[in-house]
Amino acid sequence: MANRNIYEDLDQLSTAAALSIAKLINSANEMGRPFSIALSGGSTPKRLHQCLTRSPTMETIKWGGVKLYFGDERTVEPDHEQSNYLMAKTTLFDQLPIPSENIYRIPAELEDHQKAADLYQQTIIETLSKSEEGIPIFDLVLLGIGDDGHIASLFPNTPILTETASFVSPVYVPKLDTWRISITYPVINHAKNIFILAAGTNKADIINDVLGSTNKDNVYPVQRIQPKGELSWYLDRAAAKHII
Ligand code: 6PG
Repeated sequence: MANRNIYEDLDQLSTAAALSIAKLINSANEMGRPFSIALSGGSTPKRLHQCLTRSPTMETIKWGGVKLYFGDERTVEPDHEQSNYLMAKTTLFDQLPIPSENIYRIPAELEDHQKAADLYQQTIIETLSKSEEGIPIFDLVLLGIGDDGHIASLFPNTPILTETASFVSPVYVPKLDTWRISITYPVINHAKNIFILAAGTNKADIINDVLGSTNKDNVYPVQRIQPKGELSWYLDRAAAKHII
């Protein structure tokens, strides 16, 4: 059963998620283990990133063992305004003492999208611990959710939803008329922790469809997550208004 955490607003949601992440990082550090995070794109995580770089949270976290990855990326240059890497760089990396070798960017600017996915798949295979089946395991996967129930770049009615052999795959998203590179369900499901962040009234209907209503006609991409670890929702009151 997933944990549901509801907060007054985006700032309190983000502060709470940052404190949870700090605890997870520091407990891994106490056990002498690195901590791997797959960052989310979009706008919701920006406040979380700011909370992670703000005193006193930032000083309490042992950043040296943290390895940062991406759950998905747009097929643009890393300095493009749409780039998830650029968003994370400006709101997170640039403020933190994380060595550049611990930041693993998806090379999504490559013309050959399959090659970009294969390269990143090799990166996560080589740098993460793996399950008995050889599936890379993130300590934490951060996700936002779209109003169509997509997570990462697992959009409705796209072939990536049934991808189980690859850990990273290119996906053409018709509604956006663009390609994306994304981790797939096997990797998401094997994460030790999954946080899904949603804020604002524009998310209230999808949150109700997924967490509130009994309507199971639409199996949204987010509902196909079958976590082996712990799944936690971080919602503000506006996004949760139909379920509280
Ligand atoms: C992306 C994200 C995507 C995002 C949702 C929610 O690259 O855009 O991976 O899945 O999390 O679209 O986006 P917002 O946080 O901007 O609402």
